[in-house]
Amino acid sequence: MSKDYSVPVLDGDGDNDYTRYMRTDTLLSLQRRPEDMIHRDEMLFQVVHQSTELWLKLACYEVEEAARQIDAGHLDTAARLLGRASLGARMTADQLEMMRHLAPWDFQIIRTVLGHGSGFESPGWKLARQVSQDIDKSFSRLVEARGTDLAEVYRTGHDTAEYRLAEAMIDWDERISLWRTQHYKMATRVIGHSVVGTKGAPVEFLAKLIGHKFFPYLWELRTELTLAGPMGDAEPAPEFADEAQEAPAQEAHEAHQAHRAAQADGTAERQVCPVSRP
Ligand code: HEM
Repeated sequence: MSKDYSVPVLDGDGDNDYTRYMRTDTLLSLQRRPEDMIHRDEMLFQVVHQSTELWLKLACYEVEEAARQIDAGHLDTAARLLGRASLGARMTADQLEMMRHLAPWDFQIIRTVLGHGSGFESPGWKLARQVSQDIDKSFSRLVEARGTDLAEVYRTGHDTAEYRLAEAMIDWDERISLWRTQHYKMATRVIGHSVVGTKGAPVEFLAKLIGHKFFPYLWELRTELTLAGPMGDAEPAPEFADEAQEAPAQEAHEAHQAHRAAQADGTAERQVCPVSRP
């Protein structure tokens, strides 16, 4: 007898198995109904935010597991999972494109119903910060336990699991920063400059966050390789002398110091930084 595929076989709400497994009835009821909206673009605004939370839920789930895999010594598995997480972070940046279709004045109307709600309170972004600290600790423990010389890994160990993992961590860090870059540009396109958001933060504050790094020592390592490399003693041209005050080496060093300070006040609990300056 042939099978009747039209009959649902799963438990749950909904009149077919797709609805029951994916829980689409619940998912699709989470947006404001047209009769509750004060502007029809609330749908656009809410869908971008909600799907960001979903992508970050997946991304953070993968970073959490990647940290556990590092603890278990499975570095390639961790790197593979971080690859998924980074792609998730890229998806969140890509979907900010939709905000190009939100007119500045229309957002002024929408923001009247947002209360004091702000991206600062996004559970996905809060979790992204937490799991990044977790994987930072796992990686530091690994480097310390193995006595790994990361600079040497970066010079001669491109085919090692340590190198693949460190690069996967850099990808994650960079994707978060690229999201922040795009978010800042999008925010200024919509609300302009020298104004504040729904949480009272000046929009310029978002620009400062772009420079934040979860793993500053992995960035500083690159600077150190450049300084130790065959062109390391290159001086800035005279017309760039002023800019050299803000040279990347100094920026990386400051980021490193900030990370150490964060460790000291407990916001990052790592005890050992794999790349330490005296
Ligand atoms: C019209 C669109 C948007 C504007 C004008 C905007 C503007 C802002 C502003 C001004 C802030 C500073 C905090 C405040 O006072 O609220 C902020 C923070 C933030 N927003 Fe948005 N935002 C928009 C869309 C989004 C979207 C789609 C997301 C995705 C979830 C998002 C996530 C965040 C996050 C995570 C922060 C905290 C800062 C950070 O960690 O980088 N925002 N936003």
